[in-house]
Amino acid sequence: MNLKKILVTGGAGYVGSGLLRELLNEGYNVTCVDNLMFGGESLLDLWHNKNFEFYNFDINDHIQLEKILSANDFYSVIHLAAIVGDPACKLNPVLAEKTNWQSSKWLIDKCIEKGVSKFIFASTCSNYGKMEDPKEYVDENSILAPVSLYAELKVKFEKYMLNEIEKSDTFSPTSLRFSTVYGLSSRMRFDLTVNEFTKDLALGKELVIYGEQFWRPYCHVKDFSNAFLTVLKSPDEKVAYNVFNVGDTNENYTKQMLVEEIKKILPSAKIKYVQKNDDPRDYRVNCDKIKKELGFKITMTVPDGILEIKRVIQEELIKDPENQKYYNIPHERK
Ligand SMILES: NC(=O)c1ccc[n+]([C@@H]2O[C@H](COP(=O)([O-])OP(=O)(O)OC[C@H]3O[C@@H](n4cnc5c(N)ncnc54)[C@H](O)[C@@H]3O)[C@@H](O)[C@H]2O)c1
Repeated sequence: MNLKKILVTGGAGYVGSGLLRELLNEGYNVTCVDNLMFGGESLLDLWHNKNFEFYNFDINDHIQLEKILSANDFYSVIHLAAIVGDPACKLNPVLAEKTNWQSSKWLIDKCIEKGVSKFIFASTCSNYGKMEDPKEYVDENSILAPVSLYAELKVKFEKYMLNEIEKSDTFSPTSLRFSTVYGLSSRMRFDLTVNEFTKDLALGKELVIYGEQFWRPYCHVKDFSNAFLTVLKSPDEKVAYNVFNVGDTNENYTKQMLVEEIKKILPSAKIKYVQKNDDPRDYRVNCDKIKKELGFKITMTVPDGILEIKRVIQEELIKDPENQKYYNIPHERK
């Protein structure tokens, strides 16, 4: 088996496009499968890389996917392809169930059959849902209380992967429960809290905020890539059938705290707080396990991310941040 051969599903996306670059930089041979829901510009500069291969198809097309798995001797599969986020899953529940659950289950079963060694799943801290006591931190042993279809499907797949498939010494599946992501990526998203707040305030818009007291953990998109690499390089006995929160325990913020951070560099920011019970997620996450057991450390913090987004908007590197391609659901359905 070629230990350097990796398949990434959903690699053209916000998280995946950075991860592909990091894997290639580290000398891996990378194959990406993506149906390019948000375009493929994020992959243009990788096109001539001899260690990179791309297939434009849907992971719900199992015939195509099986062909790729049979033709290659993948050491690891990193599974990112999904309908991403609560609003997108709510809008497309049938497709979400098919992609995030049925085809993910099909994929992991096939990986076991084909002898893939490591399977790394992009899960989410949204699995924790609403904490009973928001003063406490949740950790990997806390009860999962998903409050959206998106998180329900992540929890369902995680349970299958960690508890229901027959355990084997030659297969090492790991679930990474990521904090909410932020920061710059080749496939930019402005529908993520830190990116959206900073973009709006950098453009001089008034920001309307609800649930300002609700906690959420945050992690930079570059550190998402570092977490995948950490698991790839860790011995199986530390990561097999295991789950890790990804982020840093010090990087939990309420929306109000995010705004206070943004105001440090945009002091004239206009904010309006309103009452709305739209998104009940409220959780503070302890991310010490991945640090202690795998030596993972974040390299960026929320203030770093705010600064980079502000600069990109104000320097007009992205001139049209309202363009539909930077959002996971159509503007008219927001
Ligand atoms: N963004 C976050 O805060 C966050 C947090 C935790 C976990 N995650 C997880 O990380 C992963 C990547 O998220 P992202 O922010 O990069 O999202 P994204 O929407 O930018 O990327 C998803 C990619 O998957 C592709 N895709 C979707 N359905 C597909 C299908 N059926 N077949 C082939 N490709 C398909 C899309 O074209 C897209 O390129 C997801 O699994 C997501 O749940 C994200």
